[in-house]
Amino acid sequence: MSLTRIHNFSVSLDGFASGEPQSAEAPFGHAGQRLHQWMMATQSWDASGTAGVDNAFAQQHDPGIGAEIMGANKFGPPGWPDDQDWKGWWGPNPPFHTPVYVLTHHVRPPIEMEGGTTFHFLEATPAEALETARAAADGQDVRIGGGATVVRDFLAAGLVDHMHLVQVPIVLGRGVRVWDGLEGIDEGFDVEVVSSPSGVTHFTFTRKVPS
Ligand SMILES: NC(=O)c1ccc[n+]([C@@H]2O[C@H](COP(=O)([O-])OP(=O)(O)OC[C@H]3O[C@@H](n4cnc5c(N)ncnc54)[C@H](OP(=O)(O)O)[C@@H]3O)[C@@H](O)[C@H]2O)c1
Repeated sequence: MSLTRIHNFSVSLDGFASGEPQSAEAPFGHAGQRLHQWMMATQSWDASGTAGVDNAFAQQHDPGIGAEIMGANKFGPPGWPDDQDWKGWWGPNPPFHTPVYVLTHHVRPPIEMEGGTTFHFLEATPAEALETARAAADGQDVRIGGGATVVRDFLAAGLVDHMHLVQVPIVLGRGVRVWDGLEGIDEGFDVEVVSSPSGVTHFTFTRKVPS
């Protein structure tokens, strides 16, 4: 069965998954790189990186994934819909290697990139987007790639089967919040926690099997 998965989703102690303001120079706003330093230190990001607990989680991002859904603000900085040449942050060969569905109110034709990534632009409810992505994933799982708004919307719609969330020991104070409106969301999941020597805490939320 094709699952809906979230991986390496990094959140500050006070629940922000991005700082502010987002811009071409600062995609995560005032958070800079601090939310993802744990991941960039691992072997799965850089061959000379660490091979411990953080890497064990980070390397689960890609296997078994046949499509990604992401939000418009992950795909580009504010104003990208006005730039017909914008093709995402990731260069000619983006690291997805699958169809990627960008949820946006500024729909444009698909962009085929090198390495198997095609960006499709979709104005749809989370459930409709998931149905489309699942059909493209050809039996494999669908990853919800963020940002915070899209993760929150998919959780609120009850569409997430597995979420790997990483709590990073920083206080951002402002940015885009994840948990608003999700009161009690944990009750639908088996939640496990692993502390890493690096200082981050890994949470896995696995959807409870109905009894
Ligand atoms: N912490 C992490 O692990 C992590 C992971 C990924 C990304 N990020 C960061 O998170 C930030 C982006 O998060 P965000 O919450 O600002 O935005 P987002 O979730 O990336 O995108 C939200 C936007 O997507 C469009 N959208 C969402 N649902 C839609 C729907 N159903 N139909 C049509 N359009 C829809 C809307 O944009 P329009 O109306 O403008 O089209 C909406 O404002 C970036 O800084 C990114 O780098 C963090």
